[in-house]
Amino acid sequence: MKKIVFSLPGNEALANYIVDSIQADRGVSEFRKFPDGETYVRILSSVEEKDVIVVCTLHQPDAKLLPLLFLCSLLRDLKVRSICLVAPYLAYMRQDKQFNPGEAITSEYFAKLLSSNVDRLVTVDPHLHRRVSMKEIYSIPCEVLHADRLISKWVKKNIPNALLIGPDSESEQWVSEVAKNAGVPFIILQKIRNGDRNVEVSVPQVEEYKNYTPVLVDDIISTARTMIETVVLLNKAGMKPPVCIGVHAVFAENAYEDLIRSGVSKVVTCNTVLHESNAIDIGEIIIPHL
Ligand code: R5P
Repeated sequence: MKKIVFSLPGNEALANYIVDSIQADRGVSEFRKFPDGETYVRILSSVEEKDVIVVCTLHQPDAKLLPLLFLCSLLRDLKVRSICLVAPYLAYMRQDKQFNPGEAITSEYFAKLLSSNVDRLVTVDPHLHRRVSMKEIYSIPCEVLHADRLISKWVKKNIPNALLIGPDSESEQWVSEVAKNAGVPFIILQKIRNGDRNVEVSVPQVEEYKNYTPVLVDDIISTARTMIETVVLLNKAGMKPPVCIGVHAVFAENAYEDLIRSGVSKVVTCNTVLHESNAIDIGEIIIPHL
């Protein structure tokens, strides 16, 4: 039996791409708000005994989670065989530890919620920082995909003489892979985060790379402070204006505008979160896992 693909509002393009790529049926659903702000959900397709794919990227998750959970509960009430959630950006991965007494480890709570409402999760570069595997918090099978090869391809095609720069030690895992596949050198800086919007980045040793184009690569650009601090240091060191590449265009408040103004030559992201900076399409890496 053909799979059937539903999307939460805003996820139509990826859902349609999946439908065309795997010859699935397109699920028809209706989402709207009641006047009091509560969510109305209706499914108009027949779903009984079907394997369902639900597409919902989870940027700004608080507003998305409830409609998503309602859809999944309804699908289960309508006796689907399975639900696979495709969430190219997976939220609530960063609060993975109690930094102060009494803090909620929201990555665990969020994982429990999703794990009890869907049967499988497909996601792209989740922010596994202190955790080694999704298994530590998710009790369902998780397919963790990586954008590194797509980023390498983009760098190779668009930036001659690139020097990749990872802003912190965590970024080494993906920056080194991107650099290897693009056949370009890389350096990793050190970062200290003093607060949500306050980061310090180590002064880069770039003397030997003066003729290169610096390309900063990170998984998430949120406040963009990490990127901006690095851009300022590179400018001071006399490097060319850098290109900034982020997998997930989270961009809190004015972060994108601030980054553009900081002296970059270009900001490029993958379309795991829809944004005007999207230039790298992750659709093709998802298809083999559906
Ligand atoms: C670090 O934990 C991440 O890999 C990113 O460096 C971080 O999320 C970027 O955050 P911001 O844009 O707020 O500096």
